[in-house]
Amino acid sequence: MEIDKQVTVNGLTFVPYLTRDKIAEQIKRVASEIRNDLKDSSPVFICVLNGAFMFAADLYREIGINDSVITFVKYSSYEGTSTTGKVKEVIGLKEDIEGKDVVIIEDIVDTGLTAVKMIEDLKQRNPKSVRFATLLHKPESSKTGFIPDYTAFSIPPKFIIGYGLDLDGKVRNLKDIYIIREE
Ligand code: IMP
Ligand code: MG
Repeated sequence: MEIDKQVTVNGLTFVPYLTRDKIAEQIKRVASEIRNDLKDSSPVFICVLNGAFMFAADLYREIGINDSVITFVKYSSYEGTSTTGKVKEVIGLKEDIEGKDVVIIEDIVDTGLTAVKMIEDLKQRNPKSVRFATLLHKPESSKTGFIPDYTAFSIPPKFIIGYGLDLDGKVRNLKDIYIIREE
């Protein structure tokens, strides 16, 4: 499959950054870490919509624990290419997670505000444990010092798109991850 040399969306240009092969390779690694930690448990995976839907689909299949469930929540903080700083729960959790090992699946940890807010919300429901898996982490953007338990890629604090990540709702369909081009 061909990888587009560049992608333009809303007047911004993006260039290839992480290929689908590299993504698949790191997902295998993260999946085996999670499987090792939770194979004797009946974990609940919580995919954070919208951005993590593609990562969660691939990661969940790769983890391969049949005695587990996956469910979905939605949080929102971004407008365009920058965070508003306010994290909103848009779709809440319906499942009972009391006494369960929970793994949050996110697309990206930027300031860490969403992660911290979610973990705080989930802990109110008395799970046995809460772990956090992310496809991407921008450690230099942190406003919280939050460090995910599982990270596929640590990246610089630049805007990226593709493989579930959007710009104003667009380009989530891209099979590879693209980074904003520096002019
Ligand atoms: P945080 O609360 O600042 O950590 O932001 C987390 C959310 O911001 C992520 O779940 C994404 O939806 C969004 N986000 C942060 N950086 C990017 C990016 O580079 N591309 C697309 N979305 C991003
Ligand atoms: Mg997200």
